[in-house]
Amino acid sequence: MTNQQRIKHLTQTAMVTALLIILGFFPGIPVGFIPVPIILQNMGIFLAAELLGRKYGTVAVGLFLALAALGLPVLSGGRGGLAVFVGPTGGYLVAWLLAPVLMGTLFQRTHALMAKNWWRELLIVWIAGIGFIDVVGAVWLAIQSNMGLAPALLSNLAFIPGDLIKATFAVMIARRVRNVIDFEIPA
Ligand code: BTN
Repeated sequence: MTNQQRIKHLTQTAMVTALLIILGFFPGIPVGFIPVPIILQNMGIFLAAELLGRKYGTVAVGLFLALAALGLPVLSGGRGGLAVFVGPTGGYLVAWLLAPVLMGTLFQRTHALMAKNWWRELLIVWIAGIGFIDVVGAVWLAIQSNMGLAPALLSNLAFIPGDLIKATFAVMIARRVRNVIDFEIPA
């Protein structure tokens, strides 16, 4: 990789981190029965994987989570700090870091980012994005709040309709952006 390519990837990475921060300006919507809000920020995680791939997608999300861990109010509702990572939503945050690796690897193996393979891309974001994040989040929620795995998993069904819409928009946006800007994903 040339220096110019490296600078381009790092600039695009910083842009996606900035996007994640902006999506946090939208306050979370409480669901009532679990201490996990409906948020917009997870759409940024889908976009990180889609536009940057596994390596730089992980860097973008990692940078964002590092800012949150340092106490900057970058999480929805202006939250931040180490305590959030051991709170009820800690599992989702850890899954956010791993999701670009999972989605990026599947994109590569299935050639899902080719124009004609949009449905593979959509399926990967639905399953490896939404499914993975919500399951890991629910497992940690069950442990952290002593609520049992089945109720934790079932309560996460409340997020599925919104998450499906966010993931579908993310795929549509990423496909448009990749057509206009050269978001070349490194191997
Ligand atoms: C945080 O800000 O502390 C993380 C919130 C995690 C919310 C999760 S992400 C997946 C699911 N979909 C939502 O809209 N909310 C939950």
